[in-house]
Amino acid sequence: MKKAVTLTSEPASAPINPAALIEADLVQVERRLSALLDSNEAQIGEICHYLIDGSGKRLRPTFILLVYRACGGGDASVRDPIDAAAALELIHSATLLHDDIIDSGLLRRGRPSAYARYGFGPTLVAGDYLFCRAFEICGRFDEPLVLTAARACIQLTEGEAMEGRMRHNPATSLDDYLAIITRKTASLFAAGGKVAADLAGAPPLLGEAMRQLGDAVGLAFQMIDDLLDILGPEEKIGKPVGSDLRAGIPSLPMVLAAEHNPDLRKMFQNGAAHDDTMFHRALDILRAPDIIARARELAAAQVARAREIMTALPSSPYCESLYALIDEQVRREV
Ligand code: IPE
Ligand code: IPE
Ligand code: MG
Ligand code: MG
Repeated sequence: MKKAVTLTSEPASAPINPAALIEADLVQVERRLSALLDSNEAQIGEICHYLIDGSGKRLRPTFILLVYRACGGGDASVRDPIDAAAALELIHSATLLHDDIIDSGLLRRGRPSAYARYGFGPTLVAGDYLFCRAFEICGRFDEPLVLTAARACIQLTEGEAMEGRMRHNPATSLDDYLAIITRKTASLFAAGGKVAADLAGAPPLLGEAMRQLGDAVGLAFQMIDDLLDILGPEEKIGKPVGSDLRAGIPSLPMVLAAEHNPDLRKMFQNGAAHDDTMFHRALDILRAPDIIARARELAAAQVARAREIMTALPSSPYCESLYALIDEQVRREV
């Protein structure tokens, strides 16, 4: 029997719940989100509710609200980060609808994806609708915030396009991989950090530091997401194990393992999903302990970078929650 592979080796000492201090703000974000989903076209509203009422972690709103508070943002203007958090979660939700079309993702958040349930056209339109709703919120802010959000969306689309271009390409390098995930995932966290600091009235230098913080958190998050994709189990991650492999996505374990394994390169290029035996052989190669350890090290390096950036913030309970949120990125199992 194979040795079980675990993501981390050490148990954390009584981890704090990063969201506890901003629970009331997050409730407001939920209200804002829900109010924006209804449409004159009932099916659009149904699809948006179907996705957004599912079990999303709300990681981006939590990050934005914690950065806002950690940068000294107060209650008087808290409507602003609540709106910004709702806008970024709407953008994230839109990308999930579109991503499942692109990746042929049939399971999302532990149940049939919107794409599986409603089909290509309705899901595509609902994704567009969510992008528009997000920018409807952004419209009440000054130009810099709108630009930051728009540029994150531009990066997101370019990240998805680059990933598409590198599909089934065994020559995808670690640098290519980092460019993809910087765009497709970290860009939204980076925008969230910058916007939150600006809304809190933080000086420009701190705003830039929070953008970098978002970038580091987003990179670590996506790296662990790639690991979870091969480790599962499906009940925890809410999508089938090995989805990236099936879709020919150059995920972190694939990029690390393919470099030294000609067999894997061939399987990746030819589409391991077509043959069940080949799929499991490839999955076994990706699950090699040294590959998992290297992937974890890369994620841990981003977490260390994030912690270093955090030293720019004055200490506060929000800062402690932010540390917990950051550390959670390498420990998480969903
Ligand atoms: C999934 O993001 C898409 C990635 C960027 C990997 P999340 O894991 O944050 O998705 P939800 O919102 O919690 O479902
Ligand atoms: C999610 O990317 C969508 C974006 C980051 C734009 P993935 O394809 O890596 O995420 P999952 O695995 O489907 O959640
Ligand atoms: Mg994808
Ligand atoms: Mg996907």
